[in-house]
Amino acid sequence: MKFFIDTANIDEIKKGMEMGLVDGVTTNPSLLAKEKKDPQAVLQEILRTVPGPVSLEVISTASDGMCEEARKLASLGDNAVIKIPMTEEGIKAVRTLTNEGIKTNVTLIFQPIQALIAAKAGATYVSPFIGRLDDISQRGMDIVDDTCRIFFNYGFETEIIVASIRNPVHVLDAALVGADIATIPFNVLKQLMNHPLTDIGLERFLKDWQGIKG
Ligand code: G3P
Repeated sequence: MKFFIDTANIDEIKKGMEMGLVDGVTTNPSLLAKEKKDPQAVLQEILRTVPGPVSLEVISTASDGMCEEARKLASLGDNAVIKIPMTEEGIKAVRTLTNEGIKTNVTLIFQPIQALIAAKAGATYVSPFIGRLDDISQRGMDIVDDTCRIFFNYGFETEIIVASIRNPVHVLDAALVGADIATIPFNVLKQLMNHPLTDIGLERFLKDWQGIKG
């Protein structure tokens, strides 16, 4: 299972890389807005820093505009993946971009049939947003589970990126249902290696060791 980091913050990306937990990056307009810097410069720095795939999202809503933006974004780096929203126009753009050899990540997926349609159009990745479904009392992970089954049934190579992750249990559940990738915010990434009993256990070992030496 691959771990992506869901951020446009270069320091978080670098720290995540030092932890060995960054196989790729996903960004979106909201994450870029938080940085309060020139988005183009931020994206270029991320593409240079990370060897793995980096998702960059288009802003246009019409297919032609999306394709035009996508071509420009794709030219920024070989590792650029273009995030396209799950709309009728978006799917049209995914078909065109796939034919041109541009990698796509279809975002804002909230039901498995949307994922199936994106895969049929040739999407490289699909991003089901599980946290936002949990927020409205619908089990987000169910759509990931169903999507895994559908892709397995028909042999789709499209990879599933579990997005909108809120806590380590989401990462655990994504692994249990067999998702290809989890894209994880930095605060959750940091929690993945921790357990209070690990800290207590280490403290006790060190204290006992001091006792032997004393
Ligand atoms: O990458 C997009 C997705 O992860 C958004 O998450 O927390 O805004 O629902 P969130």
